[in-house]
Amino acid sequence: MNTHLVVIFLVAFGKATVEGQKSCDIPKVLQGTWFSWEVGEPTTTTIDEWSYERQGPKQGRQRTECVASSRNGSDHTLIFKGSECYTCVKAFPRTLNVFEKFETPCVTLERNEKPTIDRICRGLRQDQQLITLFNKNFVPISCRSSLEGVWHFAYQNRFRFTGECDSPDAKIQSCQTPGTQFLIQNQKFNITYRQCQGMDGTFNGVVEFSCLGDWFIGKNHYFAVVNTKESREDEKYRCFLKNRDDDLYIGASITAECNTLKTVEKSPERYRVTPVKSEVVEPGCRFPQNFTGEWINTANIDAEVVINETHIIETYYPDRARYRRTIYVCREQRDTRIMMARLTVDGCQKDYICFDFVPRHHNVIRYRKGTAVIKNDFSTVCSWVQFPNKEEWRYDLYLAAKPVPVRCPVAGKFNFTQKGESPFKTRILGGVTLSPRPDIRCKQNISDFSVCDTDQKEMAIDADYCLSVDYLGRPVDIYSDPDYRMKCIGYWQENLKSYLITYDDLDPLSKYRCWVYQRADLNRVLMSQAVGAFCDVRQDVTSWNYTEGAVVAVDMTEYERERDQCPMHFDDGENPWQETENYIKVFPWLIYRSTTSAIDGTVNAFLVSMAALLLKLLF
Ligand SMILES: *[C@@H]1O[C@H](CO)[C@@H](O)[C@H](O)[C@H]1NC(C)=O
Ligand SMILES: *[C@@H]1O[C@H](CO)[C@@H](O)[C@H](O)[C@H]1NC(C)=O
Ligand SMILES: *[C@@H]1O[C@H](CO)[C@@H](O)[C@H](O)[C@H]1NC(C)=O
Ligand SMILES: *[C@@H]1O[C@H](CO)[C@@H](O)[C@H](O)[C@H]1NC(C)=O
Ligand SMILES: *[C@@H]1O[C@H](CO)[C@@H](O)[C@H](O)[C@H]1NC(C)=O
Ligand SMILES: *[C@@H]1O[C@H](CO)[C@@H](O)[C@H](O)[C@H]1NC(C)=O
Ligand SMILES: *[C@@H]1O[C@H](CO)[C@@H](O)[C@H](O)[C@H]1NC(C)=O
Repeated sequence: MNTHLVVIFLVAFGKATVEGQKSCDIPKVLQGTWFSWEVGEPTTTTIDEWSYERQGPKQGRQRTECVASSRNGSDHTLIFKGSECYTCVKAFPRTLNVFEKFETPCVTLERNEKPTIDRICRGLRQDQQLITLFNKNFVPISCRSSLEGVWHFAYQNRFRFTGECDSPDAKIQSCQTPGTQFLIQNQKFNITYRQCQGMDGTFNGVVEFSCLGDWFIGKNHYFAVVNTKESREDEKYRCFLKNRDDDLYIGASITAECNTLKTVEKSPERYRVTPVKSEVVEPGCRFPQNFTGEWINTANIDAEVVINETHIIETYYPDRARYRRTIYVCREQRDTRIMMARLTVDGCQKDYICFDFVPRHHNVIRYRKGTAVIKNDFSTVCSWVQFPNKEEWRYDLYLAAKPVPVRCPVAGKFNFTQKGESPFKTRILGGVTLSPRPDIRCKQNISDFSVCDTDQKEMAIDADYCLSVDYLGRPVDIYSDPDYRMKCIGYWQENLKSYLITYDDLDPLSKYRCWVYQRADLNRVLMSQAVGAFCDVRQDVTSWNYTEGAVVAVDMTEYERERDQCPMHFDDGENPWQETENYIKVFPWLIYRSTTSAIDGTVNAFLVSMAALLLKLLF
């Protein structure tokens, strides 16, 4: 009874607040002081938790209070109450520094009408002009996702001159300064304008812009900028437009508005750009031959890495924009360190970076990278101080894109217990429907971990394994179709921990998985599987949750039964370059079995040996 009263009270209270002030929630991204071009004049808008104040030379000052709000994803609908009437504002935050809005004229209600969102926003049309608001206290954002590279350009401005101004020295320059990923240089770019003979309205000068962030609407890629040397507010903010399908043209606004850019072609100002080719860097050294091939970078799984004798080419496809490519050219090698020239986007200045490699083993190249510097000098670039001096660190990994399985460092037949956020579960490989188990009594249900194929290159994990014997005491293994199969593709020891990389085509999360493993006893092994292709420095054999980058820890005890031909094997990975193929092969010698007499057997064996000898002599 009491709870009912409380519920009723809450509902009533909630209803009351819809009409009161508390029902309005102006999000933090919209709060601040903004500049925009509205109703034909420069406008300043101040938004705080409750109110919306607009000020312009002709429109004067208008203060409204927020009375209702709703949100759909990142879009917000807000109702503001003026002295007499209500306005509906639909706000679309684009970046930290820019939002766009639609708004209705002020709506006056009949006496009995309620200011609901539906009622006030009724007059809103989807084809209305969007108004762009620029944050007056903007925080510059890295230009990298907006514009990166060096271009020569020719440009048109429909409002200032006719024709295209094409001067060989005109260029757009947006390059990241090496080693300063988060610093101010990367938040700016330059456009160098050159005067064209006989075209009034063209001029000589460099304009420096700070980036305010970028966003996509369909295929249109917008980015907003602010001219760093301009103090007049209406001349300061500009909007640019690129199109994903056509990177030869860039559109720009000539006012503090983005709505004038519908397509690149119809933009008030249009730049025709040609990328400036970067200079060619001659390789000065060669990588070890066994680096050549296709790799994946575990630090960035979505990147493709191709290595040939002299170049490492990393291509990354960020899902929204085009691809990003970084090319490293081998310049000079001493001991394990190789100085490389790094070429990023066309035209930007190259820089130098040092890689410290461990010789390849299995399907793994381990390396670490120094910080990038401008100087082309081995002792500077590859000085050990260039390597980030963290207390705990691990090598980064390149893993073969088409790995060749190797013998697993842990092999044999184990029974295990597990603990983890994502433990091994019974499932049917390949999606075949589970047929009901025939009525066979299991003597014991265990979890089974086997590396028993002849080469011991594949781990088979069965979360629920029926351990049973038939009436003759032979094991019944009819349910032994494993739930998981993973190929071992590399292992090594680092920081006194043993690491293993496995490969499973069917793993939806990560085909490559890193493990930490350790022998705990003569016949007991502990292992911990990581979330993905690399192991966190903190991951240990008992790690089982995300805080240490792991998903499951297993504790395994060997249990080879009499008839399982599966010898135990353990390698701590101290010397991963050592060849450890499994030479213990079990050949069923059928001839002995088919005969009863021992003498017959030896005769048969003799005959087989003779036949083999003859074959050898003949071929
Ligand atoms: C929310 O936004 C999505 C896409 O922007 C739109 O399809 C959907 O209709 C909106 N929902 C409401 C309730 O307005
Ligand atoms: C832009 O040009 C100015 C003057 O030439 C220069 O000082 C500045 O460093 C340049 N900025 C960028 C980001 O290239
Ligand atoms: C390696 O790749 C680069 C870039 O694709 C290419 O210019 C170079 O000729 C290649 N080198 C060899 C030895 O194939
Ligand atoms: C790759 O070559 C290096 C020498 O250049 C050698 O030390 C290493 O064992 C080789 N690795 C493999 C897997 O062949
Ligand atoms: C093993 O599991 C099966 C079902 O999966 C069950 O029928 C059987 O009783 C279990 N046996 C033991 C010994 O727990
Ligand atoms: C994660 O595991 C560690 C031990 O491996 C434990 O101390 C910690 O409490 C666990 N964290 C969570 C959130 O379960
Ligand atoms: C499985 O392992 C446990 C210890 O973890 C052990 O007590 C049990 O006997 C093992 N089962 C078999 C069939 O070896």
